[in-house]
Amino acid sequence: MVNRHADRTGRTVVITGGSDGMGRALALGRAARGDHAIAIGSSQARGDRLLSDAAELGLEGRIEFVRADLSTIAGNQAVLDHVGRHGSIDALVLGANRPSPKRVETVDGFESTFALYYLSRYILGHGLMPLLSQAPGPVIVNVAGVGATAGQIHWDDLQLRDRYRVVAAQLQAGRANDLLGVAMAERHGDQVPYVLYHPGFTRSGAAAREHVSPPARFTLKVLAAIAAQPVERAIAPIHGFIESPPTASLTAVDRARLVPLGLKTLEPSAARRLDQVTARLLADKLTARAHGDRRR
Ligand SMILES: NC(=O)c1ccc[n+]([C@@H]2O[C@H](COP(=O)([O-])OP(=O)(O)OC[C@H]3O[C@@H](n4cnc5c(N)ncnc54)[C@H](OP(=O)(O)O)[C@@H]3O)[C@@H](O)[C@H]2O)c1
Repeated sequence: MVNRHADRTGRTVVITGGSDGMGRALALGRAARGDHAIAIGSSQARGDRLLSDAAELGLEGRIEFVRADLSTIAGNQAVLDHVGRHGSIDALVLGANRPSPKRVETVDGFESTFALYYLSRYILGHGLMPLLSQAPGPVIVNVAGVGATAGQIHWDDLQLRDRYRVVAAQLQAGRANDLLGVAMAERHGDQVPYVLYHPGFTRSGAAAREHVSPPARFTLKVLAAIAAQPVERAIAPIHGFIESPPTASLTAVDRARLVPLGLKTLEPSAARRLDQVTARLLADKLTARAHGDRRR
């Protein structure tokens, strides 16, 4: 179906993980196409580099960098407050992630991969829904690992207190994002379509490699040089989703392949369960914080 919003420019596009890798390339690409990109990352140095590269390309003023630690509730809230000043938003692209070799707890008491790779996407998707709903052709694109069936949600130990492994944490958050897409599409997809996108092995993620041991870093670098695709190829479909949002409430794409929505990792009852568990987790944190504030 032809989308009537396809040739529009001047969109506002919010990109988490916009300071590096695919998100950075997407921010520059959207700015070059006449859009306004709000790129979010935690490193001021990477943000400054993005802005100076944009200026060199004649794109000054088309990209904003917002520094925020998206592994914390406060960091996500700061982004919601900042973006709230913009009025409507046309696209939200969720790409922030950073594997952690060791289990780290955030200030809110969540395991950091769960907090950054999944919870942030939950908070921002819900929090920006009112602004997305106002745009003529909005879309949310969650860049993760849909189509893969490895890993699981550890319902009895979501924070991986007993069995933390970097791969298990990444896979759990990946599967949680699959379910997030299903739940969001079920609730809001008629107004704001949701796209789950797995880019495949891509020559990005350089900062993530800094945290692994030197031999593993070398192996990953060699593998990336041989087997990974260039960033521009990985993000080409994301430009397509923004310029011509799907009409279906949920679309799942693993590399160039449409993922059948009946896949076991996209089970609606599991999606509703995770949605409820997450809402409760956040409500408990906010209640505990309110009590703490009152005691002070
Ligand atoms: N690369 C691949 O082969 C591949 C394959 C499949 C799926 N994916 C998925 O695709 C997405 C993008 O991957 P990528 O390779 O482009 O990532 P990347 O190059 O490692 O970039 C990660 C981005 O996340 C941001 N980030 C990390 N920690 C943050 C924090 N605490 N708060 C705010 N921002 C934070 C980083 O910004 P700062 O450094 O400024 O904090 C950076 O902009 C990820 O979700 C990844 O899981 C990647």
